[in-house]
Amino acid sequence: MPSEEMDILGLRSEQARRIAREREMHRRFKSGELRGVVVSSSDADADRGVLLAAAHLFQRQLSKMPKEYVLRQVFDTKHATMALVGPAAEVVGGVCYRPFFERGFVEIVFLAVDYDFQVLGVGGFMMDLFKEVAKGEMRGKEWEAADSVLGIYRHKCVAIDDLDALHVSVAAEMPGPLYLVTYADNFAIGYFKKQGFSTDIRFGGWEGVIKDYEGGTIVECKVLWEIDYLRKQEAIEEMRREVLQRMRAAGSIHVLYKIDDYSGIKGAADIPGVPGEAGTGREVAGDAGLLDRFISYLISDLQSNAHAWPFLKPIDPEEVPDYYRVIANPMDLSTMLSKLESNKYKGLEPFVRDVRLMASNCMEYNGKDTQYYKCAQMLLDHFHGRLESYRHVASRLWAEGPG
Ligand code: ACO
Repeated sequence: MPSEEMDILGLRSEQARRIAREREMHRRFKSGELRGVVVSSSDADADRGVLLAAAHLFQRQLSKMPKEYVLRQVFDTKHATMALVGPAAEVVGGVCYRPFFERGFVEIVFLAVDYDFQVLGVGGFMMDLFKEVAKGEMRGKEWEAADSVLGIYRHKCVAIDDLDALHVSVAAEMPGPLYLVTYADNFAIGYFKKQGFSTDIRFGGWEGVIKDYEGGTIVECKVLWEIDYLRKQEAIEEMRREVLQRMRAAGSIHVLYKIDDYSGIKGAADIPGVPGEAGTGREVAGDAGLLDRFISYLISDLQSNAHAWPFLKPIDPEEVPDYYRVIANPMDLSTMLSKLESNKYKGLEPFVRDVRLMASNCMEYNGKDTQYYKCAQMLLDHFHGRLESYRHVASRLWAEGPG
């Protein structure tokens, strides 16, 4: 009996756990059990008690660091600390950081959660909060560049009271890309990866600016302006539902078949839900719909590729005024998706032609040493690799069909 109630790979229950954790952190904040503050000794009114408590926390949790050194860093006027303060006014977590806003990044100097509060979601929440705080600071006026070349700022100390007021909608002015970068302790790399950090360095604007630490691995994270990190689990849940809905619409992948009697199963084709070999009478729908599903898969595979960002939408003529004078037949991934949805692709070949056109336009317009040219090359190589892996499907769908 097919069942619609499948929890694919346990994702639903994992997600439910993360949503509950996110809500619990919001509840603690609202009830005042937990509050946030940003403190820097560059502000004469700084609460030095909080700074000292944060320094003690870092000293306890980062025991390999010399205590004296930690203290100096926390009280350094170039640094600020975002602290989470618990019910007994104790610092339960903190991020000591140095902003380089004019260079588009913030260095995390130390980060820790008190031992008694670990594994409860505090560390994840603290990073989400920090991302929103960093965005607000970069956009706002909590700092003043005393010397932007040396990255010296004067920070205003602020209390973080209202989580709902922190995230500002995308429509508001965005000052440019923002990255977080840190030398992660090797034991904490897994934590940083869960928070969106990567060892695959793409930004690198911090090179030669921040100090090297031995025994750590440099990781960086692009902070997205359009994401409300404090509500990211709910946003992920919305996306999960959307994906499932699309999978349901595209086929029967969501249907769970229960088998009560295994005696009749002699081969793969006898398993309920598994399409059989041609000629066994159990093929699901032949090639009907396969072309659209395959192209749809290839488009979303391209869209999610790290080198696809220049090709997601048509070139904006206001940003690149002469583009349409040079390029006679523009093409991009959103246009391909519209063509697919309006049934314009009658075979795989015209779609492949569009992908190649998109890349060759880019290579024609941009010089060989530009990142756009390199993206086009990488994306095209990736695409050809995909076609090669699925050549058994591709060759079936290559010819243009009727109409
Ligand atoms: N390795 C892999 N995954 C981890 C780790 C780890 N060491 N720590 C946490 N995670 C995962 C959790 O499983 C959780 O995953 P989920 O979202 O799938 O459930 C997610 O990260 C968030 O976990 P939290 O419970 O929110 O994290 P926690 O409150 O325990 O804080 C932290 C993590 C900050 C690393 C804490 O363990 C700590 O303070 N450690 C000691 C100090 C430290 O190592 N700091 C970083 C040093 S690097 C530097 O300071 C620049």
